[in-house]
Amino acid sequence: MLLDRVKPLDAILATAKKKALKRTLGPIQLMLFGIGCIIGTGIFVLTAAGAQKAGPGLMLAFVIAGLVCIVAALCYAEIASMIPVAGSAYTYSYATMGEFLAWTVGWALILEYAIAASAVSVGWSGYFAGTILNEFLGIELPQWLAAGPLALGGEPGGFINLPAMVIALLVTWLLMIGTSESARVNAVLVAIKVAALTIFIALTFTSPEFDVDKFNPFLPAGVFGGFGTGVGAVGAAATIFFAYVGFDAVSTAAEETKNPQRNVPIGLVGSLLFCTLFYILVAAGAVGTIGGQPIMGPGGIPFPAGSEELALQCAMPQYAAALVCSDEALAHVLRQIGFSGVGNMLGIAAFFALPSVILVLLFAQTRIFFVMSRDGLLPEGLSKVHPKWNTPYVVTAITGAIVAAGAAFFPVGQLADIANAGTLYAFLMVAVAVMLLRRSDPGRKRDFRTPALWLVGPATIFGCAFLFLNLPTEAMLVLPVWSLIGLVVYFGYSRRHSHLGRGIVEVHEPEYAEVEPGIPGVGHHEAS
Ligand code: ALA
Repeated sequence: MLLDRVKPLDAILATAKKKALKRTLGPIQLMLFGIGCIIGTGIFVLTAAGAQKAGPGLMLAFVIAGLVCIVAALCYAEIASMIPVAGSAYTYSYATMGEFLAWTVGWALILEYAIAASAVSVGWSGYFAGTILNEFLGIELPQWLAAGPLALGGEPGGFINLPAMVIALLVTWLLMIGTSESARVNAVLVAIKVAALTIFIALTFTSPEFDVDKFNPFLPAGVFGGFGTGVGAVGAAATIFFAYVGFDAVSTAAEETKNPQRNVPIGLVGSLLFCTLFYILVAAGAVGTIGGQPIMGPGGIPFPAGSEELALQCAMPQYAAALVCSDEALAHVLRQIGFSGVGNMLGIAAFFALPSVILVLLFAQTRIFFVMSRDGLLPEGLSKVHPKWNTPYVVTAITGAIVAAGAAFFPVGQLADIANAGTLYAFLMVAVAVMLLRRSDPGRKRDFRTPALWLVGPATIFGCAFLFLNLPTEAMLVLPVWSLIGLVVYFGYSRRHSHLGRGIVEVHEPEYAEVEPGIPGVGHHEAS
């Protein structure tokens, strides 16, 4: 039977108990952690792609994507408070739907974390090339070194995105030697990002360029552009969903949270609400000042974001200032409305803050791989810990190489869409897992119960499926193709090597400090 290998919840929880983490985190720390993971390339860069898909309707897109994330977050809050151990959605699925489906979730999470880390690296490279190299040092990076073969903006395509590759490798190296972001560094970076966005909102809303007429037409590509087209407000929502990816990392800190019943949902939903509000205001500021109408192709349908056709249009002088053509959307807006200096400061903020998003995503990826290899589903050599650095250096190096390759050769929009496809699948499965557990194990202690689960759960499933179907077709197709590769690995290796399948159900000691649930550097671990 394919669905029979369900990992006993009690064994998973016994593993968690052994770690005896001290409950130190309050709602503010959790929210800061959430905001630190959330704000990144999505708002700083993909605002341009979102405007190309929806025009001013980008604001509606942020609302739609934010709502889907909030219902998903309520499901995460319940299951994270029940199963507060490493592995996130993969572990939750193992305990509810069995090894096979858990494998598919773990496999999809590679898209969420590794590919998202590539996307953020490419977003960072736009700010590095535009602000640091160009504005400050007067160096124009040749196109063939500044973009992968299919990049958006300027001339169509390049050869390799060197800065994106280098930053991905640099962050990998930091993780390998055991760097983790401390709570204080995270708080500083959050303050920098929030200050940058606040200044952006204040300057755009008070600019004489701000004109409500620029919001007209509000929905030039309609609300629903058609499944697979990736245009319209829901098409844009499917892409800028990326701007919210990462909030689920908060759920992994459930075990270290004081009064988790109250604080985990506050941390999850609070950070999402905060970011949603900021995102809508940033979108309004950008569109209200320099306009955000899409460049239309044949039949009055926007050219696909990231396409060669759009890049050709963007190379024409009349679109030189267009929001939809910019690689560093927010700095570009400020420069256009006469605040070049502040635009450059915002570019510097992105330059410093985005690498920490890459770090968290890469860290989460190595942790998922680590748990999968500990379960026997991936070769055990992967979870080898370095004697000096005390980190899983093998899996970190391999993950870093994959992330760097993605960053070197693919455009940010495509990477983000692919990451979204995997994330939406994982969120959907979490909602299913929460509902299944309510049925199969109603008596188990739940620190937090999702309110109105029988509405919120199906709303999450529907919302995720709907956004998935509104991704561009190529991004949608990546998930089944990727899953197929996953099935080959599962039946070729993992099923035979699975510890559970071989009758081994272990309770693990924490192997090393970093691979434990919680925030790198934030949790305070107590020896038990
Ligand atoms: N939400 C994160 C970002 O936008 C992944 O960069």
